[in-house]
Amino acid sequence: KKLAVFVSGGGSNFRSIHEASVEGSIHGEIGVVVTNKSGCGGAEYARSKNIPVILFPKTKDEPHGLSASDLVATLRSFEIDFILLAGYLKLIPLELIQAYSKSIINIHPSLLPSFGGKGYYGMKVHKAVIASGARFSGPTIHLVDEHFDTGKILAQRVVPVLANDAAEDLAARVLKEEHHLYVEVVAALCDDRIVWREDGVPLIQSKD
Ligand code: GRF
Repeated sequence: KKLAVFVSGGGSNFRSIHEASVEGSIHGEIGVVVTNKSGCGGAEYARSKNIPVILFPKTKDEPHGLSASDLVATLRSFEIDFILLAGYLKLIPLELIQAYSKSIINIHPSLLPSFGGKGYYGMKVHKAVIASGARFSGPTIHLVDEHFDTGKILAQRVVPVLANDAAEDLAARVLKEEHHLYVEVVAALCDDRIVWREDGVPLIQSKD
């Protein structure tokens, strides 16, 4: 399978998926990286591995960015099967969602549907979790629809919130699990181990 990874930041999830793909635990290859920030860590890492980097969307800061229809055409030309959002902070246009129906997933650093949606990104998520008094948090991987963080949930992992956690402590604990969970989910995706419940909820079948 061929994968596109969308990044806006450091790209540690992208890096762990790339490593798993190179060592063969994911039966898929990252064909292209899409970013809205040409200088971000994820884009730099892609260039260092000779993975093509595409800019999207076109903005004042990134005048070479593609339009949504050019992005769809480019992803098709790379024969991309699945799109993985890994710290990509822009909304995905409807045109792309329709072109890649049930094939775009995102990772979010809280147990959705709690602490998700516009405004809940980066450290803000972990600060809000700690402020609420919640005793558990953890990453969610979900299908992407036209809103932030509302698509059907595909996988979650529980991480404890400790009494004296600062947002950075919780973020680091969640991020470590994100790397494991994302690799497991992408491996399942590439092996066609996703089945669909009648109500549209995706389920992962174990390997045996
Ligand atoms: C992760 O916490 C992810 O859940 C969120 O953005 C962060 C990206 O981290 N969507 P990285 O760029 O993969 O290091």
